[in-house]
Amino acid sequence: MPYFIVYVILHYKMSQMKDPKRYTITAALPYTNGPIHIGHLAGVYVPADIYARYLRLQNKDVLFVCGSDEHGVPITIKAKKEGVTPQDIVDKYHEMIKTSFDEFGIDLDYYGRTTSEIHHQTASDFFRKLNENNKFVEQTTEQLFDEEANQFLADRFVTGTCPKCGHEEAYGDQCEKCGTSLNATDLINPKSAITGNTPSLKTTKHWFLPLDQYDDFLREWILKEHKEDWKSNVYGQCKSWIDEGLRPRAVTRDLDWGIPVPVDGAEGKVLYVWFDAPIGYISATKEWAEKNDKNWEDYWKKNDTKLLHFIGKDNIVFHCIIFPSMLKAEGSFILPDNVPANEFLNLEGQKLSTSKNWAVWLHEYLEEFPDQQDVLRYVLTANAPETKDNDFTWSDFQARNNNELVAIYGNFINRVSVLTHKYYDGRIPEAGNYEEIDEKVLEEIKLFPERIGESIERYRFREAQQRLMELARLGNKYLADEEPWKQFKTNPERTKTILFVALQISTALAVLSEPFLPYTSKKLKQILNFETLAIDLNWSNISNFDVLLPTNHNLNKTELLFSKIEDQQIEKQLDKLKANKKENEAENAQLEPQKEEIGFEDFSKLDIRTGTVVQAEKMPKAKKLLVLKVDIGLETRTIVSGIAEHYTAEEILGKQVSVIINLKPIKLRGTLSEGMILMTEDKGGKLVFVNPDAKTPNGMGIA
Ligand code: MF3
Ligand code: ZN
Repeated sequence: MPYFIVYVILHYKMSQMKDPKRYTITAALPYTNGPIHIGHLAGVYVPADIYARYLRLQNKDVLFVCGSDEHGVPITIKAKKEGVTPQDIVDKYHEMIKTSFDEFGIDLDYYGRTTSEIHHQTASDFFRKLNENNKFVEQTTEQLFDEEANQFLADRFVTGTCPKCGHEEAYGDQCEKCGTSLNATDLINPKSAITGNTPSLKTTKHWFLPLDQYDDFLREWILKEHKEDWKSNVYGQCKSWIDEGLRPRAVTRDLDWGIPVPVDGAEGKVLYVWFDAPIGYISATKEWAEKNDKNWEDYWKKNDTKLLHFIGKDNIVFHCIIFPSMLKAEGSFILPDNVPANEFLNLEGQKLSTSKNWAVWLHEYLEEFPDQQDVLRYVLTANAPETKDNDFTWSDFQARNNNELVAIYGNFINRVSVLTHKYYDGRIPEAGNYEEIDEKVLEEIKLFPERIGESIERYRFREAQQRLMELARLGNKYLADEEPWKQFKTNPERTKTILFVALQISTALAVLSEPFLPYTSKKLKQILNFETLAIDLNWSNISNFDVLLPTNHNLNKTELLFSKIEDQQIEKQLDKLKANKKENEAENAQLEPQKEEIGFEDFSKLDIRTGTVVQAEKMPKAKKLLVLKVDIGLETRTIVSGIAEHYTAEEILGKQVSVIINLKPIKLRGTLSEGMILMTEDKGGKLVFVNPDAKTPNGMGIA
């Protein structure tokens, strides 16, 4: 054999762990600065959950962990904005996220949090060990500083133009547009996110992880060993970072929210959130192990453990370059076998955004679509952004539910169970002689576990779910072709065989749906009365049996698995999005730039006075105009005002207003208007009056 073939085979074997003894599956720790939305679910939590459930169905030793990422700047910013403490913020969202994952069926073994004592301990120990082993470089450098806020600016406290792609809202640690990881001082035209000021430079000491020293290791481990098995989007990003040249990266910050740097001479400094957060996977494992009488080290330090990180694409550098370098520096940990990162999901053609409230929030979905977790799971997997960004639309959500889940899967199961009850009182009939089609179908069922599993193991969850749906389609088509309802009177024996076969398909569907549609699988197992079956059917064994559901087994009463989603439900969701968008636009409305400077003489030419509306009526045939009589102290003036869309005549009667009284009168629709009332707009775009703070006599000058 030529040596390069040996080389390729060897590398392939090394990179893809064969028969691991146990699996450690992590899902990115969500920041607790807001609730979970569909982007998080599609990118990370649904695929990770499918994978974990799939392994458990084969009785593998699986640990699936996640937790709240509670340090970091987004949380401090949110707390400032709401006038509460960071602890208040993380407590609120930790509970909310944990509950919504649970209700959505993200079947974690443990959900931790990075404010926990064990985590603080674990992250501090990790840092101390690296420090003692001289794995850091301590350096005093100039960092961005906000004089007004009296604070150093790093990460999300500072925005500016990305030196690589020119994106104007890059953050101090990363550009979300091109994915480049940055140091705050790399930004062009940096601006403080706290005050909007241009920062100055101030020296401070930090601990740096010298990533440049891990260049050889990363080239060997990623670029060679994982060339074949990592997703091309992940591999490509890693390659471009490594090729650009890795630089030392500060792992401490001058902040007051986070884990204090556990060494002398580091007062007022905390660990960089991306240093502590991934260690959160380890602390969560420790907490889980303590409660479940397990050894946490088995899941992090044994070579026959397969470690997998499920993340979104903005997390690639941290999970593929920085965290592995930390693990390598520490020395006793295994490295991830794969990091199946997804691209981003958009919503109705626009980037999802927590701060802009452009999202479908999980907790709201759970309230508005009760017991329909699987519909969202299904749609998010069908549209998973596995190789490129993808779009979620409500009309696609409706169509996939109505045309696929209801019309194919649901329809098939409903027909099978209803007919079995109707013809045989819910008892599985005996099959007669099989026809060719029956044999073909029964043989084909056996191919599905491997067919679907193969896609899952390659992290192709869309494809896996499509293959699952092929089984439902197979069942639906089999019934449609064989038409047992037509044969029942004339050919009762044939009818029995058809339903017997259809029930076997249903049984396989119940087992194989579990990772994708866990609630549906559970309902279907209930309908099929799995509880009284002699064998415990699972992913690994269903291909071994010719009969899954035996003759004379009794079904439970039937129920509908899916129901149609109506147009109004979709319209309601679209209206909600539109309303959010409007509110957000008003909040972020671009303010007009300042006008040209004027002297006091210019200003003093204006004669602005207080006045009271003493009479008001609509201008006939004019939608926007009210005709007012305003007492301005000196006299009562007629003023035509364009506020009829915002106020009725009654509402404004008696109101005190501010009036410019020396504007040259103009005729509006035939009425002479002898003044102008001062107004501004509120958040929603409604006109409001600019009034004196307290009631004043009419005719007082305003200056
Ligand atoms: N909180 C980060 C985010 O939402 C992810 C942290 S993943 C971890 O992007 F590895 F650091 F935990
Ligand atoms: Zn960029």
